[in-house]
Amino acid sequence: MINTEKIRKDFPILGEKVNGNDLVYLDNAATSHKPKEVINSLVEYYEKYNSNVHRGVHALSIKATDEFEKARISVQKFINAKNSNEIIFTRNASESLNLIAYSWGKENIKLGDEIFITPFEHHSNIVPWQMLCKENEAILRYFPIDNNGDIDVDKFSKEISNKTKMVSITHMSNVLGTVLPIDKIIELAKKYNAVTVVDACQSVPHMPVDVQKIDSDFLCFSGHKMLGPTGIGVLHGKEDILNNMSPFLYGGDMISSVTYEDSKWNDLPYKFEAGTPNIADSIGLGTACEYLTKVGMDNIWKHEMELGQYAVEEISKLENFKILGNKSKELRGGVVSFIHDSIHPHDIGSLLDGFGIAIRTGHHCAMPLVRSYGVVAASRASFYLYNKKDEIDKLVEGLKKVEEYFK
Ligand code: ALA
Repeated sequence: MINTEKIRKDFPILGEKVNGNDLVYLDNAATSHKPKEVINSLVEYYEKYNSNVHRGVHALSIKATDEFEKARISVQKFINAKNSNEIIFTRNASESLNLIAYSWGKENIKLGDEIFITPFEHHSNIVPWQMLCKENEAILRYFPIDNNGDIDVDKFSKEISNKTKMVSITHMSNVLGTVLPIDKIIELAKKYNAVTVVDACQSVPHMPVDVQKIDSDFLCFSGHKMLGPTGIGVLHGKEDILNNMSPFLYGGDMISSVTYEDSKWNDLPYKFEAGTPNIADSIGLGTACEYLTKVGMDNIWKHEMELGQYAVEEISKLENFKILGNKSKELRGGVVSFIHDSIHPHDIGSLLDGFGIAIRTGHHCAMPLVRSYGVVAASRASFYLYNKKDEIDKLVEGLKKVEEYFK
């Protein structure tokens, strides 16, 4: 069990008032708040050892390099990667996915090849593959879904073939909160030697993720959704695959030698980290990993599943609201999207904001999925380790007041 009251004291922003009310922050799938440790690690970098990495022989540069590389090891341990050189720092998960599409995809996806993604994907796991397929004349296919609206793995097992060169799937939907059966999917993909990509933006921050167990070829996530700063993301790739890929961006630090005529590439991970990296925010992300580890990812996941289930139950009691996706406890984390019979989500979100309650409304960067429910927008509450059941009660009370207002 986690001690939510104690945890909340680590997050300065949770003491803020919004529109005269205590902040009830239920927009964690969009971005999470930062504990003092993370904020302090950024301040400490800038105040005490701000310097460039891998370049200087002076004390500050050596310290900055040490802390930057320590952060990489914290991330490695957090997802149990085999080697720290499999951890590539990017700006965010979108950049990680684009890196795969540009570097691995352009060289390996050929005319008539197939890439499978699910209908649950965030735009960042749709658009790079659409563009790659257009350019390389490949075919983008979507996983079949069953009568419950879940991924139909049995049907998929009949659709995947030797033409399938890549399978790219979200671990947990940022709209529905559904956790996908990635183990079964990856096992199937391997039978056909398809390269596997996992968008772990909504899983790595919330549940224990072990990349060696998952056995994905690539896995991507963003720092700001897991208590870290914005502007820092991660691409995990298996060493042998990364070694065989060309760089995505060219410039400083990613080379081992340059002549006027030609250049040779640096070793992993630097081959994929051109230019001065985001030093401060990498260090902040390392601190975030250590904070989450201290609380315990098993504890966090259990807590969020409980909150997710409680929210599903309580919102389901409201007659005119409908929850999107599968309501079953086993398949769902702490993300709940819902629609009202007649009130637009933006009106719901704005009125809730008046009570200090922050939710996200709109298409959630997953337009095709939201539209498949016959709507163009939905409201979404998403939870994290610092949320409490009474905040869900406040949300439900707020939703009742919204209905009252529109009567
Ligand atoms: N991808 C983020 C979300 O789901 C921004 O809200």
